Amino acid sequence: MSRIAYVNGRYVGHGEARVHIEDRGYQFSDGVYEVILVQNGKLIDEDAHHQRLQKSLKSLGINAPMKRGPLTQVINQLIKRNKFSNGIVYIQITRGVAPREHSFPINLKPSLVMTARRLPPKSQSAIEAGVKVITLEDIRWKRCDIKTVSLLPNILGKQKAREQGAYEAWMVDENRLITEGTSTNAWIVSSDGALVTSELGSHILSGVTRKTFIQIAAELNIPYEERQFSVEEAENSREAFFTSSTSFLTPVTEINGKVIGNGKAGSLSLSLLNSYFNYIN
Ligand code: PDD
Repeated sequence: MSRIAYVNGRYVGHGEARVHIEDRGYQFSDGVYEVILVQNGKLIDEDAHHQRLQKSLKSLGINAPMKRGPLTQVINQLIKRNKFSNGIVYIQITRGVAPREHSFPINLKPSLVMTARRLPPKSQSAIEAGVKVITLEDIRWKRCDIKTVSLLPNILGKQKAREQGAYEAWMVDENRLITEGTSTNAWIVSSDGALVTSELGSHILSGVTRKTFIQIAAELNIPYEERQFSVEEAENSREAFFTSSTSFLTPVTEINGKVIGNGKAGSLSLSLLNSYFNYIN
């Protein structure tokens, strides 16, 4: 099936989609993005994604290319044209095209690009087997709450994880506390059975899936704490997992070579994931 992308007002074949070489996103990573989960043709947590997108744009002083109504129409049209019901939509807004200079003209027309793709479901056995995580130094800037396309530390971290046979890297700050994963939020179940994930702040992205899991935990009366945790606490935790729009909840069964729990997905993790499946379906 041929994929369709959206580029500045036009629906075009994925292979033919182009932006200008002086797009500031291409030259300076001067842009923001969102990844939204599509389940049964519906956008999951659309409000939260929209709010975060507005916040990212505002933080960087990038103009919104269109209002929310038309933006949602384009997203839904793209899903329809790509003929899938379970997948993801990628939305990228850059400051726009201008002669290459670090400073920028204020009323630049932003560029809007979207792609969409099917997301194959994960098997129950893959979920239960879990994945490995390594930890590495968080070398990012001090505004990780902005969802910018400037992702060099994240991609290098993820690549290092893959080269070491792990799926994700959790990043560690100067106090040896974990901030988040390279493209996910990090969670553990502490020795006293509480769910723990970092508090919000400029050191992490305010994950939409993180927020949904906090709601689910509250509904299930599972105690949770929003605080950072150390590498040592993570390595000795009862259960560990990470969350994102593309990975849902992914159990972690090894951190830095140390086996978590009995080396299989923990029961609390699996029951939270089950509730999330009910939430999105
Ligand atoms: N990543 N932290 C970082 C650094 C992320 O890049 C992401 C999302 C998350 C989880 O956010 P959410 O639950 O809203 O997806 C946390 C997306 C999926 C990506 O870059 O592809």
